[in-house]
Amino acid sequence: MSVHIVILAAGQGTRMKSALPKVLHPIAGKPMVQHVVDVARTLGEAITLVVGHGADAVKAQFADQAVRFVTQHEQLGTGHAVAQALPHIQPTDRVLVLYADVPLLQHHELLPMVAAEHQQALTILTAQLAHPTGYGRIVRNGEHITAIVEQKDATPDQLAITEVNTGIMAMTGEHLHRWLPKLGNNNAQGEYYLTDLVAMAVADKVSVNAVKAQDVISTQGVNNRVQLAELEREYQRRQAEALMLAGVTVLDPQRLDIRGTVSSGQDTLIDVNVILENVALGANVTVGANCILRNCQISDGAVILDNTLIEDAVIGPKANVGPFARIRPGTVLDEGAKVGNFVEVKKAHIGAGAKVNHLTYIGDARIGAKANIGAGTITCNYDGVNKYITDIGAGAFIGSNSTLVAPVTIGDGGYIGAGSVISKDAPAEQLTIARTRQVTITKWQRPSKKES
Ligand code: UD1
Ligand code: CA
Repeated sequence: MSVHIVILAAGQGTRMKSALPKVLHPIAGKPMVQHVVDVARTLGEAITLVVGHGADAVKAQFADQAVRFVTQHEQLGTGHAVAQALPHIQPTDRVLVLYADVPLLQHHELLPMVAAEHQQALTILTAQLAHPTGYGRIVRNGEHITAIVEQKDATPDQLAITEVNTGIMAMTGEHLHRWLPKLGNNNAQGEYYLTDLVAMAVADKVSVNAVKAQDVISTQGVNNRVQLAELEREYQRRQAEALMLAGVTVLDPQRLDIRGTVSSGQDTLIDVNVILENVALGANVTVGANCILRNCQISDGAVILDNTLIEDAVIGPKANVGPFARIRPGTVLDEGAKVGNFVEVKKAHIGAGAKVNHLTYIGDARIGAKANIGAGTITCNYDGVNKYITDIGAGAFIGSNSTLVAPVTIGDGGYIGAGSVISKDAPAEQLTIARTRQVTITKWQRPSKKES
């Protein structure tokens, strides 16, 4: 048996009030439909996406992924949508139908739908809802499911049923080939309902069973931005919970946002209002309040102080960054390096134990181990056309407010007097000063008020 997942993504999503197709709206920075495709990938071999509204934009999202598209030109109902995929479905397939606007379902929640013991059955993921309005109701005769009736077609008795169809269903390819061509649209909405397969299964004596959703919020769909925000918060709650269970202290799980893949070693602490996007945190890391970390590695024991922004960088073990630091792409800090407040670093390698503590710009630079860069130092890396490297040797000392005009090299242990403008290489172990000498005019007289 091969599992084939058909994902319905043709709907317009009018209530989003957006130029962006609904299924491309993100949860944790990733389009909803991508969440669904990602979980589908863990469950089956083939994925077919039924696209319609915004088809080009949806297809573009999967340009480099193994996904088949079929187009539903008119949205004539969920049964009609699945029928578009029929030419690609083998009779021997186990088919799982997912919705692209139901983004939170997880592998373990969907696995029973394709489980070996129910291969031949029509399986429905159902949910128990206190307020079932709008959903298709699961009609049972005793234990046996006999039909799904849509809200608009239901009798008052049926409307009282609180077990609902989440829309997620699985069946064999052979059954789809047999039943889909027989669907009619003689109902209140004039649509081809996928749910009518239930009555056909009953008629054909095919067993119909329900998998009951344990976590109802996983089955919720998004129709408007209020629901989008609800699912975003649930997703974030789960992410924070996973980190905490892995040994991370999260001071307030409601004030942490995680996007992409985030991992952490034990005994790391995350303060409030932090955004982490594709970050590998080591053990014993501290992330201060209001930090934003993207595409970076923060090694064991590093301390990221409040209000720091780090992107595409590697922060070495026991390094110290911030508060109010901006670490830009291509930066590497070695063990124990320190970058302090109001420092911007771009594409620079800062050696072990080196310090850049205050009000400095370091761009396109190599800073040797244990060098000390004084407050207000600027690497002039750009002449308006090209960028050049500043190379600062190990143990060098750059006096405050120095300007290093690249390309330029400061030798190991070189010492630069404060306020220098260094435009030629400065030797190792020597004091280099490049500023006008201080003079005092001894016979100077204070100006006096002129008679007019
Ligand atoms: C459907 C189910 C209902 C269930 C509910 C759960 C049917 C007939 N009804 O109702 O039992 O309780 O979902 O949310 O299946 N879509 C297409 N093409 C179409 C129609 C829909 O791609 O022609 C897609 C939509 O984009 C959406 C999904 O299928 O992602 C469900 O469609 P929607 O119209 O929201 O279904 P409901 O009427 O809510
Ligand atoms: Ca509908």
